[in-house]
Amino acid sequence: MRAAILGGTGVYSIEGIQTVEETVETEFGPVVVMKGTGQWEDLYFISRHGTDHSIPPHMINYRANIQALKNLAIDRVLAIYAVGSITDLVPPGEFGLVTQFIDATQGRINSFYNGGKSGLKHTPMDEPYCGDLGSKILASAKKRNLSMAKSGTYLCTNGPRLETPAEIKMYKMWGADHVGMTGATETVLAREAGLHYVAVAYSINWAAGMGDIAKTNERKIWDGFFPN
Ligand code: HPA
Repeated sequence: MRAAILGGTGVYSIEGIQTVEETVETEFGPVVVMKGTGQWEDLYFISRHGTDHSIPPHMINYRANIQALKNLAIDRVLAIYAVGSITDLVPPGEFGLVTQFIDATQGRINSFYNGGKSGLKHTPMDEPYCGDLGSKILASAKKRNLSMAKSGTYLCTNGPRLETPAEIKMYKMWGADHVGMTGATETVLAREAGLHYVAVAYSINWAAGMGDIAKTNERKIWDGFFPN
């Protein structure tokens, strides 16, 4: 059984695992993947933003990434998203399973079914993430004493700009726990492709206007994300 990790901001390799680089050709374009070696030869890794963090969230070739996983006969995917915290559910520095999303992106190609030859399909999103893989991730986190929220709602913005405090206030009223720029687009395509897809959010900052002033001034827990 083959598995893949899709890493976001700050996740550019898998610690302790030697990989070799491969390019997978897809009908949507080429994708660079890292393939594990030795006992990890069935594990693949894709860095969504490129290994040098050069691909902005609205320019990621999401369809190609998911199609590459399909072409490699991968059926289980762990997605890791960097997020800003809106509620205290997953504060900066912590992890949480993502169990729902709200899609606030615009203008992205977010489906494999775009009419014509590709046809039309309305994929259900009642359960966007694989519950079975979710339980395994939670059990594994518990075994390692890693605190992980059991659920959470991810709000996906278009980016690449960050949000205004007014937007974050609105997203909070909508029920969002954290905010990021990639999760919804990728989840929809993964579900359309029939992958077992589970997502973990790790927070790198308080979202705009959240927390008290001291917290807001200490937003930059991961410097690479914010401009200096
Ligand atoms: N907003 C949007 N995306 C993000 C953030 C944020 O504050 N932090 C990490 N990804």
